[in-house]
Parts: sequence; C-alpha cells; structure tokens
Amino acid sequence: DVKKSENFEGKSSRYIPPWTTPYIIGIGGTSGSGKTSVAAKIVSSINVPWTVLISLDNFYKPLNAEDRARAFRNEYDFDEPDAIDLDLAYKCILNLKEGKRTNIPVYSFVHHNRVPDKNIVIYGASVVVIEGIYALHDPRLLDLMDLKIYVDADLDVCLARRLSRDIVSRGRDLDGCIQQWEKFVKPDAEKFVKPTMKNANAIIPSMSDNGTAVGLMINHIKSKLELKSDEHLRELIRLGSSHSQY
Ligand code: CTP
Repeated sequence: DVKKSENFEGKSSRYIPPWTTPYIIGIGGTSGSGKTSVAAKIVSSINVPWTVLISLDNFYKPLNAEDRARAFRNEYDFDEPDAIDLDLAYKCILNLKEGKRTNIPVYSFVHHNRVPDKNIVIYGASVVVIEGIYALHDPRLLDLMDLKIYVDADLDVCLARRLSRDIVSRGRDLDGCIQQWEKFVKPDAEKFVKPTMKNANAIIPSMSDNGTAVGLMINHIKSKLELKSDEHLRELIRLGSSHSQY
C-alpha cells in the first residue's frame, strides 16, 4: 500500500533510533480494562523500529504443587501484588534501559505456571511498552518509565470482558471465573490496583470510543520521540565535532 509506505518513510525518517536509552511506557489498570488493546494501538501507531511490548503477566510466580492445585480450584489469589515477580520484572526492564540483553519468562494461564525452558530474548529496544495490572505499582518500575498511563474502566465492564476472554483463551469455566472474581479479583482491584491510578500521567477511559484519548496520547508520544531523536542527533554531531578536533 503506497500511501502507508509513504507515511512510514515520512515518519521513520524523523526517528533516529537506536537511542542511548529506550523510551519506556507503563500501562496499568484493572483486569479486563483493555490495557492490551491500548498498548497494541500505541505500538502500531508510533511505528518505531525495535518497539517491544511486554506483559507483566509473563512474570507471574511459578507455583508449587499445592498452590497449583488451589489455583485449579479457583482458590489462589493471583491479584495481590505479591503474585507477580516484580523484582524480576524490574531487573529485566532495567537491563533494557541500560541497553543490555534480557530474558523474559513465558507464562501459561492454562497450566498456572511458567513454561519450562522457554524465554523471550530481547535486546536493543528503542521503545518498551509494559502493560499489566501492576505496571504502575512498584516505585522502582515507575522510576524507569518516561510515561505512565492508567486505563480506567468500570469493574462490571471488566468482568464482562474477562469472562469471555478467560473462557475462550485461558481454558476456564464460568462458575470458576465468577468465584475467582468475587473472592480475589474484585476486592484486590479496589484495594491495590485502583490506587495506582494516582501514579499515572494520563488516564484513558476504556470505552469502544476512546479513540480521541488514545489519539491524543499517541501524538504526545510521537512528539516526545521526535524530541529524543533531535537530542540524540545533536549529541552525535557534538561527538563528531569534538573528534574532528584531533
Ligand atoms: N490470572 C489468572 N490465572 C493465572 C494468572 C493470572 O486468572 N494463573 C489473572 C489474574 O486474576 C489477573 C489477570 O490474570 O487479574 C491479569 O491479566 P489481565 O490484566 O486480565 O489481562 P491483560 O490482557 O494483561 O489486560 P487487559 O484485559 O486489560 O487487556
């Protein structure tokens, strides 16, 4: 498609990655709020090479046999912050911030466990988007982020989305989903997830017509990336001219 490739050429010529440090965006919000779709829209619209999308879901802690049995009975709390290995998530994102290579674990919602001997290797990222219920929770992760977005949705809308997603994609049954929602997901959302909204720079409503808010956010990100490119270019020129004095 000619128009698309012209756009791509036009825009990509404004960006000059790899920058020395990646631009890091965090996207938080309750389960089923639509974080994944906001993240995907941002990734496809900014159109920067070496953009990576990381889900904090990959960092759910592995369970022992007893806890896994509880998980299959919908009696395990996956919604408290401690269920996610935020220490490991921090280390991985720090590696990327420092331009190093990192290994992201792979998680199976069907087996309630990490997939053994499987990692996603990432290096040389220019933009990193991290999404998850606790993306805006840990102060160490917040410190690494250039932009923090909270996707806000009513919990009953979240439940409706979550039910269909969990039954279709995560191998769950209706009764179990509702039991887990009432016992853990909803109370933890109120207690731990919603308070992270205060850490956000921007709050996006999670509705099918949130296009304007997402569009404004994307324009903001693009202008920040252009600024980053300009600074990077100036730095390259400065380095070039100081070398040419020798
Ligand atoms: N979870 C689960 N079983 C596990 C691990 C996690 O049911 N073994 C659930 C937790 O209850 C938590 C949810 O996974 O609430 C986190 O994923 P969620 O935020 O719902 O999915 P995303 O696709 O990341 O986000 P969104 O729905 O907002 O797009």
